Amino acid sequence: MQRKFTKEMRHTLRHAELSDAETLLELAARTYYETFSPVNTPENMKAYMESAFTLPLLQEEMRDPRAIFLLVEIDGRLCGYAKLLADKPPDCITDQNAIELVRFYVDRSWHGSGLASTLMEVCLDEAKKRGFKTMYLGVWERNFRAQAFYRKWNFVRVGEHVFQMGDDPQIDWWMMLEV
Ligand SMILES: CC(C)(COP(=O)(O)OP(=O)(O)OC[C@H]1O[C@@H](n2cnc3c(N)ncnc32)[C@H](O)[C@@H]1OP(=O)(O)O)[C@@H](O)C(=O)NCCC(=O)NCCS
Repeated sequence: MQRKFTKEMRHTLRHAELSDAETLLELAARTYYETFSPVNTPENMKAYMESAFTLPLLQEEMRDPRAIFLLVEIDGRLCGYAKLLADKPPDCITDQNAIELVRFYVDRSWHGSGLASTLMEVCLDEAKKRGFKTMYLGVWERNFRAQAFYRKWNFVRVGEHVFQMGDDPQIDWWMMLEV
């Protein structure tokens, strides 16, 4: 049976602290692997995972003052996270006052539950609170579920770029939303 998330459940939405790094790394690596290993070669997955999901790198990312990590926990268990980064946007994003949604991952057992929408609300609130007018993100052209989710939130496709996954040059769409 599909699990449903309701705001009456004992949940916490909060900014990550450095002490969350190990727990966050476990969720980040697991959700990335579950999402992309069925549709990528083991070699490309291994190469990417080893370069992108290490504790020192995550700790460095968490210390970056331009980055915002948001966590959602249910009954004290980490169930999803988002990473926002105020970096220079790509050319297809004309508003320079824009923030990138770099990572947006929910534990598989909560997919379709509504939890992702709660996390998205928090991301948009955070962006607004900090004065950003635009949120943008990159999504793989073959990640149909994520695209459908972002479309529900009115993100629109505005461009594309190559994301190098090991030896596989993949096309990522840029999508954006005025917040
Ligand atoms: C992306 C993610 C956060 C969305 O959360 P979610 O709970 O799955 O989202 P929802 O169920 O609310 O919305 C997904 C929509 O896609 C639809 N969908 C599911 N599988 C689909 C598919 N293969 N193709 C197209 N649409 C699909 C669902 O029916 C739903 O639409 P609906 O609400 O109109 O029925 C979550 O799926 C996730 O963590 N995925 C793995 C990580 C990931 O891909 N992150 C994004 C990286 S850019």
